Amino acid sequence: MRTGRLKLVLNPIWFIGCGNMAGAMVEGWQSANVDLSDAVVIRPSAKPVPGLRVTSNYAAAGPAPRLVILGCKPQQLDDVVSRLTAHLTSQTLVVSLLVGVELETLRQKFWTAGAIVRALPNLPVAVRRGVIALYGEDIPGELHQQVSQLFAQLGYALWVNDESSLAAVGSVAGAGPAYVASFVEALAKAGVERGLSSELAATVALETVLGTTWMAASTHESMGDVVRRVASPNGTTEAGLAVLRRDDVLDKLVSLTVSAASRRAAELAEEAKGPKLAQEAPSA
Ligand SMILES: NC(=O)c1ccc[n+]([C@@H]2O[C@H](COP(=O)([O-])OP(=O)(O)OC[C@H]3O[C@@H](n4cnc5c(N)ncnc54)[C@H](OP(=O)(O)O)[C@@H]3O)[C@@H](O)[C@H]2O)c1
Repeated sequence: MRTGRLKLVLNPIWFIGCGNMAGAMVEGWQSANVDLSDAVVIRPSAKPVPGLRVTSNYAAAGPAPRLVILGCKPQQLDDVVSRLTAHLTSQTLVVSLLVGVELETLRQKFWTAGAIVRALPNLPVAVRRGVIALYGEDIPGELHQQVSQLFAQLGYALWVNDESSLAAVGSVAGAGPAYVASFVEALAKAGVERGLSSELAATVALETVLGTTWMAASTHESMGDVVRRVASPNGTTEAGLAVLRRDDVLDKLVSLTVSAASRRAAELAEEAKGPKLAQEAPSA
C-alpha cells in the first residue's frame, strides 16, 4: 500500500484537456504521490489517462470542482467556457495554463469562479524538474499557500508580480525545452558528421547537456565560469566558441527565437479576447 500521500485540499480537481502539458503535470503529481483519486479529466476524445477517471461529458464529471486545471489550447477556450461555467462556484479556483490569455480575459469568461490563477509550466514538470511561473491577483493567503504547495511538487514554482513577468518567464521556460532539445539535436548531428552512429551521437549530446547543467546547478557556478573552465586559452574549445560567438550570432539567434514566440503569444491573447473585447481594448 502507498503511504504518505499528499492529500489535496482543493478537491475535486477537474482537468479540462489533458494533452502534453496537463498530462505532464499529472505524471509529475503522480510521481510526487499527490492524491488524485478524486480527479477527473474532461476531454473530447475521452482518451484514457492512466490512474485518472476520464469523460467527455461535463455532466458526468461529478461534484462541482474546487480546482480546475485548464489544459486546452487558447483556440478551444470558448467551447470550454460554454460548457464549464455552469459547474463553477465561488469555491472554485481556475488555474489556466493557456499561453498568452490574460487574466482579465479569463475573468470575463469565468466570472462564476471564485479565483483565477495563471500558471505557465514547462514540460519537465513530468519528472518534477519543471519551471512554473504563477500569477494571480488578490489571491487569499491560504489559497496562495495551497497553490504554491501543489505546484512546488512539480519543480521550481515561483509567483510573479505582473503578467509581463509571467510572459517573460514563460517565453524562456515554457518553450525553452524545445530550444534546448533542438540544440542537443544539432550537437548530435555534428557528431554524426564526424562518423558517430546516430544513436551514439544522440546519447553523447544528451549526456553532455545533462552533465553540464547538472554540474552548474549543483556547484552554483555561472555559465561563464563553466565556459572558462572548459576553454583553455588558444585551445580547441576556444576555436569553436569563436564561431558560436562571432558577431554575437548565438545571442541574436536566441533573442530572435524568443521574440517570435512572444509575438505569437500576444496574437493568441488578442484572439482569446474575442471580437468584442478586442475592439474595446485600447489601441496603444
Ligand atoms: N506544451 C507546452 O510545453 C506548454 C507550455 C506552457 C503552456 N502550455 C499551454 O498548455 C495548453 C495545452 O497545451 P498542450 O501542448 O498540452 O496541447 P495538446 O497536447 O494539444 O492538448 C490539448 C488538450 O485539450 C483538449 N481539448 C481539445 N479541444 C477541447 C475542448 N473543446 N474542450 C476541452 N478540452 C479540449 C484535448 O483533448 P483531446 O486529446 O481529447 O482532443 C487535449 O487533451 C495550451 O494552452 C498551451 O498554451 C503548453
